[in-house]
Amino acid sequence: MAENFDLPASAPAVVAHGKGDLRIEDVALAVPADDQAVVEIAYGGICGSDLHYWLHGAAGESILKDPMVLGHEVVGTVVRAAADGTGPCVGTPVAVHPATPAPGAARYPLDRPNLSPGCTYLGSAARHPHTDGAFLRYANLPARMLRELPEGLSLRGAALVEPASVAWHAVARAGDVRGKTALVVGCGPIGALAVAVLKRAGAAHITAVDMHAKPLEIAQAVGADVLLQAGDTEAIAAVEADVVIESSGNHFGLASAINGAVRGGRVVMVGLLPSGAQPVAISLAIVRELELVGSFRFNNEIDDVIAALADGSLFIDPVITHEYALSDALEAFATAGDSAVSGKVLLNFGL
Ligand SMILES: NC(=O)c1ccc[n+]([C@@H]2O[C@H](COP(=O)([O-])OP(=O)(O)OC[C@H]3O[C@@H](n4cnc5c(N)ncnc54)[C@H](O)[C@@H]3O)[C@@H](O)[C@H]2O)c1
Ligand SMILES: [Zn+2]
Repeated sequence: MAENFDLPASAPAVVAHGKGDLRIEDVALAVPADDQAVVEIAYGGICGSDLHYWLHGAAGESILKDPMVLGHEVVGTVVRAAADGTGPCVGTPVAVHPATPAPGAARYPLDRPNLSPGCTYLGSAARHPHTDGAFLRYANLPARMLRELPEGLSLRGAALVEPASVAWHAVARAGDVRGKTALVVGCGPIGALAVAVLKRAGAAHITAVDMHAKPLEIAQAVGADVLLQAGDTEAIAAVEADVVIESSGNHFGLASAINGAVRGGRVVMVGLLPSGAQPVAISLAIVRELELVGSFRFNNEIDDVIAALADGSLFIDPVITHEYALSDALEAFATAGDSAVSGKVLLNFGL
């Protein structure tokens, strides 16, 4: 590919304009800053937060005030390297770490930049002006966000690197899982990826819980040993898991997670519960001396995920259930919003 690749003046993007108003439209391409490379986006995974901006005009406390390009789960190829000479050169296939930590005055462990209070994320309305995402054919991205894909790992094979890093971080928050009994509550993409990461990390026995057949089928395909229905409280309690990953994101799931943990066990909460008070019978966590641990995004785990995908030790292919052309993004979003029929839905920007 030539160094002087001529960028078009505009490119198609997926833009959330407000509640229920998602558009596929051409946006003008800005001149990249010196530290930005231009990446030709190949695939973008649709995430729960993208769905929230579309359906509610907000994701939790992040309220859409202006139109915003969605998307943070993207992979692509560098078509123009950063002018300051940092980062990968033209032609390099890359995954993207969507976070920009913002060290400030607030206290947090400095080795955990995911906790820096001013951290921005691609495709997030947490701040104003919003941080545009990368569901855009040609995205200007800071070179430091780009992770070169090793030989043997295709762009499609790397399309789930971002959510897999969320799952990897969550499993890491559970500690050493080798030989342990694990329970995963909620087997959407994040839960299914957690099953795959637990399997790779050596968990001895993995039980997966969901209310739909499709996510359970995916969980089984990536390593779950036993599948349970969400309403089967007795069977969930009988699991007595050393390690529980809560990835449903609602209080019923958190209740199941607590219920299914063994005395002295650890529950990792990666599912994002709505803000505000949540009705969960928490007393069991006290008398069982459970450890309830939060998990938020990830740091350099992305490099471990890329290496594990490249060497074949992390198997996640079944998590991708659908792929749509960018022009069919509206249909893709509708499919992604239905947990009963889909795992991860990809947009293919090259079609
Ligand atoms: N902490 C983080 O950094 C982070 C990052 C990404 C996503 N998330 C959150 O993780 C959660 C999962 O993400 P996802 O993309 O897989 O979402 P998803 O909505 O696709 O999956 C949730 C799954 O949970 C199931 N479920 C719902 N209620 C249940 C219950 N009571 N018991 C068992 N299963 C139940 C649903 O059927 C669905 O399959 C969401 O809350 C999302 O916001 C957190
Ligand atoms: Zn995501």
